[in-house]
Amino acid sequence: MTVMTRTLAAAAGSATADCLLNRYQAMIEGHDPSAAQWLEMQLARADQLPDDLPDTPAQLNAWSAQHTDQVASDYAAYLRARQQGAPRYYFNNRSQAMWFLQQVAPTKGVDGAWLQGTLQHWADPRYHGLIQTYLEELGNGDPRCNHVLIYQRLLSRLGAHSSLLDDERYLQGALQLALGQHSERYLPEVIGYNLGYEQPPLHLLITTYELAELGIDGHYFQLHVTIDNAASGHAQKSIQAVHQLCPAGDEAQFYARVRRGYRLNNLGIDTPSLIASFDLHAQLIAALEQKSLFGRFMHADRCRLQKRTINQWLAEPGAMPAFIDAMCEQGWIKRGEDPTQSRWWKVIEGPTAPMFGVFTAYEKQLWHDWIAADWQAPLRRVQPGSWEPQSGMDTPLAPLPVDQNIASLIERMLGNRHASPDGLLATRAYLRATGLTQEAFD
Ligand SMILES: [Fe+2]
Ligand SMILES: [Fe+2]
Repeated sequence: MTVMTRTLAAAAGSATADCLLNRYQAMIEGHDPSAAQWLEMQLARADQLPDDLPDTPAQLNAWSAQHTDQVASDYAAYLRARQQGAPRYYFNNRSQAMWFLQQVAPTKGVDGAWLQGTLQHWADPRYHGLIQTYLEELGNGDPRCNHVLIYQRLLSRLGAHSSLLDDERYLQGALQLALGQHSERYLPEVIGYNLGYEQPPLHLLITTYELAELGIDGHYFQLHVTIDNAASGHAQKSIQAVHQLCPAGDEAQFYARVRRGYRLNNLGIDTPSLIASFDLHAQLIAALEQKSLFGRFMHADRCRLQKRTINQWLAEPGAMPAFIDAMCEQGWIKRGEDPTQSRWWKVIEGPTAPMFGVFTAYEKQLWHDWIAADWQAPLRRVQPGSWEPQSGMDTPLAPLPVDQNIASLIERMLGNRHASPDGLLATRAYLRATGLTQEAFD
């Protein structure tokens, strides 16, 4: 290992260990002077990973078609297995699904950001495919179709916002923002990252199917099955961009850099492994420990469990596993049965429950699924999109801003700013000002 690679590895390690969240937030605000340097370190890490790209760009269409066929046949096998009674592959219960949606929220919260730097090239038709991809991530300024907003609505509906995530969860979002902010310098890497991100994977299909089965509106995932399709969607546009923006006579070096960017997709944990790492008991204990900091002085001394006051239980570090065991022994919780039959459930759930509002929707789901254990709640499959706004816009279409200064419009469309009411207006104004207007907004 050279001094250079040792330095890069050490710096990459420390960034991963303690400051991805800060970096992510700084880049959303547009102020991270070391983003390019950090991106260089991540590329050095990605260089160590294998990839499945073909040897030359000319083979990309066949490669994409083969990938699509493989995903289709794997998904058909999945559906057959499920129809024959196999259990869900990913989500044992709603808690696990809600937990997963929280874990990927930092990435989904900046969906498309790696392409934001292409907006300024609106006059160059070679960029139009990438710009169109970015604008579709932004829903062309329609709040019903803006991917970041769709995801935020999903989390809000479920009550699944989380403030406590491992720092590693901010890695892919930070990469996307860094690529977007430095796409002049890293254009081939941006194109390569886009190529990897926009190929619809098997886990997208399975996630969509299993969320619906659990009664969760997976519209966000369903729409990526269609919008990223390899025939004409973002996957196809990602391949066209490789061809259109490849400099003449420099194909090999350009494609090597595309490959580096492609590999950035593989940094961090993969989706199926992330989902499988969910631990229901540990999540419940963690939620209780966090809550106990606030609850240890809140209970009257007549509230007792096995001769100790609730305040004493909550004040003792590491006591939560024994606390919930005691609740089971005292008959407050009947594990393996319908949770609504447990006395404890009636204490925490419902508008007249004594502890109404103490636990979030996600935390109540943890209780529910932990109490239920192997008892299966009846499922109510939901059609993706059922809970999404069907008509009407949340912000008025007219009047569009008078400001036609494209640079200032772009400024308002970066990071996740495009998902604000002002960002949505700026997106529609950009479409008008650049002549890339969608007919629906004429
Ligand atoms: Fe998207
Ligand atoms: Fe996409």
